[in-house]
Formats: sequence, structure tokens, C-alpha cells
Amino acid sequence: MQLSHPDRELDVEAVREQFPSLAITDDGAARVYFDNPAGTQVPHQVIDRTVECLTSRNANLGGYFSTTLGAGKLVDAAHRACADFYNAASVEEIVFGQNMTTLTLHMSRCLGRRFKAGDEIVLSSMDHDANVAPWLLLAEDLGLVVRWMEFDPRTYEFPEDALSEVLTDRTRLVAFGYASNCTGTVNPVKAFAAQARAAGALVYVDAVQFAPHYAIDVQDLGADIVVSSAYKWFGPHQGILWGRRELLAETFGYKVRPAGEELPHKFETGTLSHEGMAGTLGAVEYLEQFGQGATRAERLRSAWGVLSVYEQSLTQRLIEGLSAFDGLTIRGITSANALHRRVPTVSFTLEGHRPDDLARAFAADNIFVWSGHNYAIEPVRRMGLLDSGGVLRVGLAHYNTAAEVDALLDSLMRRIKAG
Ligand SMILES: Cc1ncc(COP(=O)(O)O)c(C=O)c1O
Repeated sequence: MQLSHPDRELDVEAVREQFPSLAITDDGAARVYFDNPAGTQVPHQVIDRTVECLTSRNANLGGYFSTTLGAGKLVDAAHRACADFYNAASVEEIVFGQNMTTLTLHMSRCLGRRFKAGDEIVLSSMDHDANVAPWLLLAEDLGLVVRWMEFDPRTYEFPEDALSEVLTDRTRLVAFGYASNCTGTVNPVKAFAAQARAAGALVYVDAVQFAPHYAIDVQDLGADIVVSSAYKWFGPHQGILWGRRELLAETFGYKVRPAGEELPHKFETGTLSHEGMAGTLGAVEYLEQFGQGATRAERLRSAWGVLSVYEQSLTQRLIEGLSAFDGLTIRGITSANALHRRVPTVSFTLEGHRPDDLARAFAADNIFVWSGHNYAIEPVRRMGLLDSGGVLRVGLAHYNTAAEVDALLDSLMRRIKAG
């Protein structure tokens, strides 16, 4: 199927046909999925791969019969697909796990074997708690000193010196997000990683909200670990961590004794979700069709170019529409020239209306959005919104349409008129 025109413009109707759930209605009302930052819908490639795995190769790994051999092939293929997704140098750098949170709790414990009391770690005030709490717990266990990299709650970005101000010669790790699940800001990961590494610190990047919108190139970033979750980028519930090979090789892995020391398996505890890996492979295959190039990694990079241009046009429409409402404050970058510095996740507050009331009103129109802090406790606190119900979050994906954005604006207008 042709998903992009020869001039590489996205054919959104052809895209939507690949997602069975997008055609489902509730009592005749179409569903508008703007809950994407909390989890995207899946195309048939993901469903087909999952069903095929559970039907034809449902066995544990390491045996001699056909299903175990088939499962092994699938697990290898899923690792290779994610190596291409991250543009990793080696498939040994890809670690599968339950989700980003679980992988980070696990990896923080493994990395913690390298740290000692009095060492310092830097955390980000813009992050989801999954990249905050695991490090706070580690700091508590080991007696580490925690320093905070502070963003500016008026610009929704980090000042240029945000990291250099808190780095010291005792900093062992810097953890921050690639893109915020609240403000939508894309952070200057490469610049921060360079500063952190120059100070001798490890760099741990939460790419969960960046991964559904732009290409990740771990060979270019300069980070040590990058994590995302396939269910945010059109796949199943499955976490995927990339780690620099040398770092993973020298890092202690918490594991059972019969499990080997070889990479990446020393960090892949227990029996993994083979069906989750199958679906993740399907998601990569889905994404790859939008791009051009000789290799899958090249096609993926090119695909994100097509998808992000389309998403930015929708984001601009949404931001312009929301900006017309009196008393509405968008809690993120709004400039049309800066759309590449954000993902299409637009959070806002509206005077006189609690975010959860708005979310309920949208749900009545079958428009799916999230409200509250969405686990982004630190940024919502910095913005002074923790006690007033957080934000209303509209999260777009490339399968959304301009008509859906207009439906949301229309629904909001009706809600305001109703008082
Ligand atoms: C930025 C960010 N990081 C981490 C997570 C946690 O991801 P997971 O559910 O895979 O643990 C989320 C989930 O919403 C997120 O938005």
C-alpha cells in the first residue's frame, strides 16, 4: 500500500486503514484517540506478528524442536529490529524488558554497583517519575547526593547552563528525558550528553515520548543508555533499552545463576514476552514502510521525516485553535517556528475549569484525552499546578486528522458555552 505520495506527503487515510481500532465506533460515534502519550493504537502488522508468535512458535528458548527454534529466530529478529530503531552499532546493545519503568528500576540497581556514598547524580525537573524515582531510591540506598537540573517554567525549556550549573567532579550519572510527557519539550540531549560525559558522568536518557515522533540515533547522541516503550510507538506493551556495549559488558547484572553473562541476556531477567517482542518487530516493520533507503535503519530515519512534518502541521492547527480561547494557557512551546523543539503533546489549563472536568466533557464527545499530572510530578509542581488538578493533555499521533483537531476545538467551545 502507498502510504506516502511521491512528494512524500503522508496519506493519512491510507495510514488509518492499517489500524483496525481507528474504525471502531461507540454507539455510532467515532473514537478520537488523543490519548497517544499514554499509549498508541496498533496497526495490523503488530496484531499479525503477535498472533503468529502465539500460534506457531509458542515455546521457551534453547531447545531442539521446531517451536523453540522458531521462538529463537523471532527473538533475534526483534533485537535486530530494535537495533535499527535506535540505530545501534550492535544488536548486543538491545535489552528487552517489561516497560521503561521496570527496566530503569532494574538498570539503576545494576549501575548502582558502580557508585558509593557521597557520589552525586543529576536529575531533571522536567521528567516523568519513571526517570526520577528509581534514582531517588538508589540515592537513598547508597547515600548519593541528588542535584536537580531546573527548567524554566515560563519558557518550558532548560536554560543553556542548566546542567553545567549542577555538574561537579563527583557527578556519576545524569538522567533526563528526550521529550517531556507534559510540556512536550524536546531537550538538547546531544549537548547535555557531551557536557555530562566531559565531566565523567554516565548519561541515562528517557526517550519514551520522543520515540513516537522523531528518529533516534544512539550513535550520534553520546548517551550511555536510552530507553523507550513500544506501546508508545504503535507496538505492544514492551520496554526496550539500548546501552553502550562497553558499559553493559562491564556493568554487574542482577540475574539468576543459570542465566549466562553474555549480552544482552544478562540484563533480560526471566522468560521474556515473546509475543511482545513479535509485536515490537511488527511495529518496526510498520514504521519502515514510510521511509526510503537501502537499509532498515535508513528507511526508519527517513520515515520519521515524513511523519513528523505531518504531525507538526496538526500541532500548529491545534495550538492556533486553542490559543483563541480566553483564559486558556498552553503549558509548552507555542511558537510556529519552534515546532521541531516539541513533540505533538499539547497540555493546557483553562481558567474556571478543572482538567478532569474537561477530560470528562471530551469523553462525552468520544474524544480521549488525559488529565492530571500524568506522573510528571516534578514539572507539574514547578508550574504550580499540582494542587489544582494538573493539566489537560492532548497528544497527537500521525494517524490523527485535522478534522479530529477541529472536533476537539468544537467540543471545547460547546463546553465553555454550556458554562
Ligand atoms: C516520559 C515517560 N517516561 C516513562 C514512562 C513510563 O513508561 P512505561 O509505562 O513503559 O514504564 C512514561 C509513560 O507514560 C513516559 O511518558
